[in-house]
Amino acid sequence: MTSAFEPVHVAGATLSNRIALAPMTRSRAGAGGIATGLVAEYYTQRASAGLIISEGIQPSVVGQGYPFTPGLHNAEQVAAWREVTDSVHAAGGRIFAQLMHSGRIGHPTLLPDGLVPVAPSAVAAQGQLFTGDGMKDFVTPHELTGAEVREAIADFAEAARNAVEAGFDGVELHGANGYLIHQFLAPGSNLRTDEWGGPVENRIRFAVEAVEAVAAAIGAERTALRVSPGNPYNDISEPDPQAAYEALVKEIDGLGLAYLHVLEYGPEAREATLALRKQFSGPFVLNPATEGPTDHRALSLIEDGVADLLAFGALFLANPDLPERLRTAGPYNTPDPTTFFGGDARGYTDYPTR
Ligand SMILES: Cc1cc2nc3c(=O)[nH]c(=O)nc-3n(C[C@H](O)[C@H](O)[C@H](O)COP(=O)(O)O)c2cc1C
Repeated sequence: MTSAFEPVHVAGATLSNRIALAPMTRSRAGAGGIATGLVAEYYTQRASAGLIISEGIQPSVVGQGYPFTPGLHNAEQVAAWREVTDSVHAAGGRIFAQLMHSGRIGHPTLLPDGLVPVAPSAVAAQGQLFTGDGMKDFVTPHELTGAEVREAIADFAEAARNAVEAGFDGVELHGANGYLIHQFLAPGSNLRTDEWGGPVENRIRFAVEAVEAVAAAIGAERTALRVSPGNPYNDISEPDPQAAYEALVKEIDGLGLAYLHVLEYGPEAREATLALRKQFSGPFVLNPATEGPTDHRALSLIEDGVADLLAFGALFLANPDLPERLRTAGPYNTPDPTTFFGGDARGYTDYPTR
């Protein structure tokens, strides 16, 4: 029986355990989307994870959906991330960059030069977002032309090259939670009638080609994808997700990716998770559906072979030494949602270790 505290091979390296820091936006980048010394401190504190997956990082200017999120699309951002990755590596950690293009989840007030958010189709998400200038309704996004779809894919590949130059051990494409890749996968946000929309084989094309482009740029063994089948977050409508995700995994399975990361939505999703796990031949990272934040009770999923690694979000945010605390089934510091997004060291780097 494999335990979560045994090593696992991912991206050409041996990770010390099977516990991953789940990607979490913390909105503490400096002006120009620059990771600061405080960001380096936050990740370095969590270097006892087998794998750190960074917060969502925009691969392009228009890919930014929230205030104070970092980028990987210019030299200054690359240099700043280098300090983070060096610090994590010096502490014995491994770190992947999560590339997150937020698509229609964003707002013109967050973007320069009169840019507006982009999406597969001109369908606004219902709801509001925090812009730094109060809560605002989502706007109707600009529908990407065929040429612009290809540019968005090329931007992922370029940002992946930048990630490697910045010292990241690999790149996870954010295909979950209603952002651009998910917007292409889901019929509610993708009304296209060209090769990027309509039947399943067209709706998965953007995800597949983005993964392939990143794999061509930095190597498949350093490329990963996160998905959240059926997750309605950010106004996603995906009534029958299983066919699309099985088709997607079928297309990317032969590439030899670093891992597939599934964020499980809802307790009834386990069967679908198991089907994807069985279908994918590489390392399988699971962020399981749980009541409240994922904790030590999830460790049995490794023992039972449901996943090769487990991703922990809120509890890892609040417990920099989470792997040690999981080993003893707690106790845990309690996450404080009022300091999740934005601000300073408070609720970021000041959670105590034991
Ligand atoms: C503050 C916060 C920020 C998040 N930001 C991201 C993100 O940038 N990318 C992503 O894929 N998921 C993001 N998530 C989702 C987490 O990765 C994770 O799926 C979620 O917290 C559920 O796991 P848990 O029960 O262990 O917290 C975020 C979650 C939280 C709490």
